[in-house]
Amino acid sequence: MRRALVAANWKMHGNRIFIQELVSGLIPALSGGVNGVDIVICPPFPYLQMVDSLIKGTEIVLGAQDVGAHESGPYTGEVSASMLADFRVRYVIVGHSERRSLMNECDQHVAEKFVAAQQSGLIPVLCVGETLAERDQGIAGQVVERQLSAVIDQAGVTGFSRAVIAYEPVWAIGTGRSASVEQAQEMHAAIRQLIALQDDEVAQSVQIIYGGSVNPENAPALFAQPDIDGGLIGGASLNADSFVRICQSVS
Ligand code: 13P
Repeated sequence: MRRALVAANWKMHGNRIFIQELVSGLIPALSGGVNGVDIVICPPFPYLQMVDSLIKGTEIVLGAQDVGAHESGPYTGEVSASMLADFRVRYVIVGHSERRSLMNECDQHVAEKFVAAQQSGLIPVLCVGETLAERDQGIAGQVVERQLSAVIDQAGVTGFSRAVIAYEPVWAIGTGRSASVEQAQEMHAAIRQLIALQDDEVAQSVQIIYGGSVNPENAPALFAQPDIDGGLIGGASLNADSFVRICQSVS
């Protein structure tokens, strides 16, 4: 039986006062954990240490929003996986669509980050998903397969035995228009099937979470799907009450 995972991606939001209040709002409901759900918070880099102190002693764990592909060296502005591990970061998002599109990160570069994260003991949260144009062209499945294959080429399919996959259709991110329960379940099942072709055990154990306009109202139906193991939450994770309700809606 797979555990569920709900992760907050705060993106580039917040400041010290806001984050102090937000985390204080989460702790009463989430500190002891919820129904065996893995709960992860991914703040912007400068706030990792602050959030780490605020969540100390709770069941909430720390994640980062990105990682450099290199271990160390002349890469101004980059942060390595070992540096994140040094700050008790456990999870790291790689290949978020905003980075793929705005920072031109290609599939191979995302795969390098995935490998770098695992080499430092972090659990990568690999984001995959198609644009609206790609869905309209009927190639959503092919796009997601290409994104996954790039990682399998570098990490092997067993790389997914220590990773999370986040299906985030680009057209659903920040738009208020979530994928329907059927669309999301269909893609999650296809992702699991793709992995099962190479390793059924890995396919049955990997957590595949959904992201894109998840809110407390649509979360229960999404999370009730057999192949949807939780969510990667953007906007709604910036409100303590919403994020708590989303975590609690895992059945
Ligand atoms: P929203 O929940 O704001 O749509 O963002 C989803 C996302 O990109 C999480 O990584």
